[in-house]
Amino acid sequence: MAQGTWCGSARLASAAGIIILAAGSWTVIDSQSTDEARRQRFTAVGTLDREAPLQTGTPTLSAALAPSEAPTGFDNKTNGFSPQGPAFDTIDEDNVVALRSFNDNRFIFEEAETIADGLGPTYNAQGCRECHQNVVTGGASQIAEHRTGRMTNGQFFESQGGSLVHSRATNPQIMELVAFEDDVRTFRISTNTLGAGFVEAIANETLLAIRASQPAAVRGTAIQVPVLEAKNQPRLGRFGWKNQHASLESFSADAYLNEMGITTPIFPEENTSSGRDVGPFDPVPDPEDDGVDVVAFANFMRATKAPARGPITAQVAAGERVFATVGCATCHVPSITTAPAGTPINGGKLRVHAALGNKTIHPFSDFLMHDVGTGDGIPVQPTAEFAGTATQIRTAPLWALRTRNRLMHDGLSFTKQEAIMRHAGQATAARTAYQALSEASKTLLLRFLDSL
Ligand code: HEC
Ligand code: HEC
Repeated sequence: MAQGTWCGSARLASAAGIIILAAGSWTVIDSQSTDEARRQRFTAVGTLDREAPLQTGTPTLSAALAPSEAPTGFDNKTNGFSPQGPAFDTIDEDNVVALRSFNDNRFIFEEAETIADGLGPTYNAQGCRECHQNVVTGGASQIAEHRTGRMTNGQFFESQGGSLVHSRATNPQIMELVAFEDDVRTFRISTNTLGAGFVEAIANETLLAIRASQPAAVRGTAIQVPVLEAKNQPRLGRFGWKNQHASLESFSADAYLNEMGITTPIFPEENTSSGRDVGPFDPVPDPEDDGVDVVAFANFMRATKAPARGPITAQVAAGERVFATVGCATCHVPSITTAPAGTPINGGKLRVHAALGNKTIHPFSDFLMHDVGTGDGIPVQPTAEFAGTATQIRTAPLWALRTRNRLMHDGLSFTKQEAIMRHAGQATAARTAYQALSEASKTLLLRFLDSL
């Protein structure tokens, strides 16, 4: 896929591009078929759904209404998607009712899983909250994951068992270790999920319209990814550092397996340990969860408020104008409106809830991928179609920026100034314009970033 092009549905709908491991370059254990099965699992099938109201014809009532602001706050309160539910500290493992309320679903998102629940055999942490917690459950954190692979003859190969290298295991014998030869390596830090329901409710067409409005040199890449709960119906990716998912249910099933080692009907098979079978270490029959937890996680995130801004002083307002003038806002888009309530999304599996529809959010992202010179070398999928994504990263949403002190996908920029100075590639003009600012204007811009 050429940089800056949007993948046409016909290309992604085909199953072409599945890479067969080159004989001899690799110690193939039993992973060839599992790798292929994983790629098939992540292949979108069909054409992109229309999610925005038609431009022609009779305007619907909801389309005619002016959008309202999405609720914001770091307060553990529902945005209206689910009822708040019983007092949080009265909920325990025995009385929790999945899907009943925000507080019930938050309890499930916070729960620490054990080996008896299906944890592992390889995993990264025991619960979603371990990595999504700052400043409240659902936020970001400093926990970073490893991803590794290697280039052979110009082609990317994931590490045995997948590019995600788990950092914990239930037994020392199955600990995943990075192969010396796998020298394409990165950290990826945990992202924020507060307000994610609003992001899920953005119509495909809205993301494409943002993309179309960007000058060619800065234009982002939109990729189609499968909605796993909708028979792999394609939708534009918007979640994760590589826009690897479009639906919160798909992301949750993926995280349950890949962060915690818990299998579900969407992902019924355990990960290997660097290609080695972990069966002897897995006491719980698969699927380890019936899939209800996955919807509880998704519904928790759907019901969270968007991150709240700090005080907006005159300096902050002036700084936002500098941010726009130097070109930061072309990618870090200040305002996006979600699809109207009732719009079918996620391959028809979900309708936009009244609490999430026709709301304006301020994510400071276009939810598109760009090459800003920081690409971690690991494509969304190790297939020809996605090769171009190796050098691209989703525009980091800047909402909740003030809750993070390890910046960029790898968490290796300690300050905002250093994060800005790392921008190159498609962001070179913006960075150069930033560098040319007076000290006073730079300070205003940084005060603005401090308010996010
Ligand atoms: C070990 C840490 C860890 C655990 C545990 C974890 N996550 Fe994450 N999460 C991450 C990281 C790291 C990312 C970014 C990954 C990437 O894009 O490569 C992420 C990204 C996400 C995103 C995408 C948000 C966005 O737009 O960037 C969602 C949604 C999410 N996680 C949900 C969950 C759920 C649900 C659970 C529990 C089942 C969970 N996570 C458990 C570390 C974790
Ligand atoms: C061409 C698109 C583009 C432009 C223009 C751009 N950015 Fe970014 N920005 C990105 C991408 C992509 C990332 C994520 C890069 C990574 O993690 O490797 C990012 C990351 C950041 C981060 C780190 C956020 C975090 O959570 O870690 C900050 C801060 C930031 N940008 C500020 C700015 C400022 C200020 C400007 C203007 C001087 C700007 N950006 C211009 C695309 C852009």
